[in-house]
Amino acid sequence: MSLYLKYRPQKVEELDLDEVRNRLSRLLASPYIPHAFLFSGPKGTGKTSAARIVAKKLNCEKNPYRKTTSLDKDVNIEPCNTCDSCLAIKDGRHFDVLEIDAASNRGIDEIRELREKIKLAPVSGKYKVYIIDEVHMLTNEAFNALLKTLEEPPVRTVFILATTEVEKLPGTILSRCIKINFNKATTTEILHSLKRVAKGEEVKTTDEVLTCIADFADGSFRDATKFLEQALSEDALDIAKINKILGGVRFDRGQFLKLIIDKNTEKALLFAHDMGEKGADLRFFITDVLNLLHDLLLQKHGIIDVKQNSKLIDEMSDKDITALIKHFSQIYADLKYASKPELLFEVAIIDWCENK
Ligand SMILES: Nc1ncnc2c1ncn2[C@@H]1O[C@H](COP(=O)(O)OP(=O)(O)O)[C@@H](O)[C@H]1O
Ligand SMILES: [Mg+2]
Ligand SMILES: [Zn+2]
Repeated sequence: MSLYLKYRPQKVEELDLDEVRNRLSRLLASPYIPHAFLFSGPKGTGKTSAARIVAKKLNCEKNPYRKTTSLDKDVNIEPCNTCDSCLAIKDGRHFDVLEIDAASNRGIDEIRELREKIKLAPVSGKYKVYIIDEVHMLTNEAFNALLKTLEEPPVRTVFILATTEVEKLPGTILSRCIKINFNKATTTEILHSLKRVAKGEEVKTTDEVLTCIADFADGSFRDATKFLEQALSEDALDIAKINKILGGVRFDRGQFLKLIIDKNTEKALLFAHDMGEKGADLRFFITDVLNLLHDLLLQKHGIIDVKQNSKLIDEMSDKDITALIKHFSQIYADLKYASKPELLFEVAIIDWCENK
């Protein structure tokens, strides 16, 4: 089994997105469980994992969710992960927990079926839980059917909607859900999850190596775990080897971008020269720079908030960011056919610093 499946978080405590963990902890200890959740955020941030944890908790035979009369701080919010119900949900064979993937069939039949089934009381468990993944892909017809059920929620039924593109959801759905944001994970959060995997697999490595992997995963726990698995299979758990595998990630893209913004031709060329000497993969590096520019663009428009970027963001206008995205995307494309990639990269730097 892939490591990222083996180490899928099984309880709230193992969710390494701090904000998500805190909100779910509070909700599961509160007197009222919402009848509809909306988990929104990029891939690999734990939406499916968290949905299954909630489903397990609601139906756990040993430690089920109980309505308390007031907020009880000492309540144990974790599912037991050993009872029949928890195991059935983990294996995806629980009668009352249904996962629907809206991306694969756009959901018309499923939602229709769901509306029929939903009238029936839960079979074995205490709650019926519907997990609808990529919910923004539902057809209009399916949306309307879903909306009707959300308007008149049946008893002991919980919907967990997940999406990577929340902006495509109609307001009528949004307004009926408790929304939890699964933002891109920080390096620290990913490092924490990688340490759990490394410990479980008895991997001997250093924090520096794990941080390097965490950095490169661009906010995705899943990608980070995959990189670690790749490093393990290639026996590349020291810093030199990991750098080679990840294609020069240790080169600080933020530092590079700062030189570019300042139009510091000389230092930017030195930076590029150093990368060449160390055998960095330029296309990898440029992807990384583009990821950073993408974050900066979203941040400029108030869509995300990345604290580490605060210095860069103040120095750049919207126009600078879009122009740089175009410039680097072009270099990325050109590099594919370049006979001397380093030269092309250097020319592109000069071109930007001197002529734009
Ligand atoms: N919050 C988290 N903490 C630690 N590891 C996580 C977390 N979220 C996801 N992972 C890792 O990433 C994998 C994919 O997570 P998943 O829940 O399928 O993400 P999503 O549904 O958002 O794409 C998990 O199997 C696990 O290895
Ligand atoms: Mg998922
Ligand atoms: Zn249980």
